[in-house]
Amino acid sequence: MKNLILIGFMGAGKTTIGKLFSKEKGRKFVDTDERIVREQGKSIPELFDERGEGYFRDLETELLKKMLMDTKGAVISVGGGMPVRKENRELLRMLGCVIYLSATKETILSRVRGDGSRPMLNGEDLEARVIRLLQEREILYKKAAHVEVRTDGRSVYQVMQVVDQETRKWL
Ligand code: S3P
Repeated sequence: MKNLILIGFMGAGKTTIGKLFSKEKGRKFVDTDERIVREQGKSIPELFDERGEGYFRDLETELLKKMLMDTKGAVISVGGGMPVRKENRELLRMLGCVIYLSATKETILSRVRGDGSRPMLNGEDLEARVIRLLQEREILYKKAAHVEVRTDGRSVYQVMQVVDQETRKWL
């Protein structure tokens, strides 16, 4: 059975949708951030602080390679920066059906405001950061994905329904 992989910007709902969808389908759920944190014994902010972003990105690539060997039939939610590297985009597409959960900057901002657990969004002017990163990444998410599902104005259950419809032919 193929893996179903959820990509998208921070706050797009990858983890929430992934957990519920995996339960509904009786599939295993894997969250790459959670797996990295567990394997490293450190939180994401600690990894960024102590080892830097490049180290975290290398861990992400290594994890994708491991998952190609050990993960099948799962619903997988990946960190928002995972598809930025070309190598990762190729690995993601080899790993399974890639769904891009997209959202406008307004939706993203309403979901990530006041959350200190994301180092990429720390510092001044959250809005400017989100706009810049979203601009850089949107094209890369589209390149990585087999299917795009818009999440704006949709409830979690509505998004799950669309993911289900859109992925039937792939899985
Ligand atoms: C990141 C997104 C985070 C996490 C890390 C970096 C990014 O995951 O991997 O903080 O660069 O977009 P979420 O998308 O689950 O917040």
